[in-house]
Amino acid sequence: MQELTLSIIKPDAVKRDLCGKIIQKIEDGGLRIKGLKMLQLSREEARGFYAVHREKPFFESLTDFMSSGPIMVAILGGEGAIDKYRGIMGATNPAEADSGTIRKEFGLDIEKNSVHGSDSPENAEIEISYFFSKLEMVDR
Ligand code: CMP
Repeated sequence: MQELTLSIIKPDAVKRDLCGKIIQKIEDGGLRIKGLKMLQLSREEARGFYAVHREKPFFESLTDFMSSGPIMVAILGGEGAIDKYRGIMGATNPAEADSGTIRKEFGLDIEKNSVHGSDSPENAEIEISYFFSKLEMVDR
């Protein structure tokens, strides 16, 4: 089934100029970019995006990190895009990620793990609309 998912290249990876390498892995993995931009979240915007994690012990640190520098957000599309992208990213903790995955190659630790991807169709829709208007997505 054709799906959409939201990808974020996190501040740790943007800072190290890894966007090109990460996008290459996304495209090589069979996903298509349908929307793309770079921006920096305020603390409040980061807190809004990660609101589902607000009770977690890592919430403050995570949202400080996510607002600490520019991020690159993308809408990715393809067959089973949500699971496909989770496979391309690898496990949340880079130390546990399979070789060849983005997080294994580029992630620094469980927080600075280089990328985010939606975990369900419902969250993909919410997360895409957090960053993109209808005009900012192409059909391809
Ligand atoms: P992400 O896929 O963006 O979803 C939530 C983020 O919280 C996760 O990636 C990590 O960057 C961060 N995080 C920090 N500590 C943890 C933890 N112990 N478990 C899960 N996520 C964590």
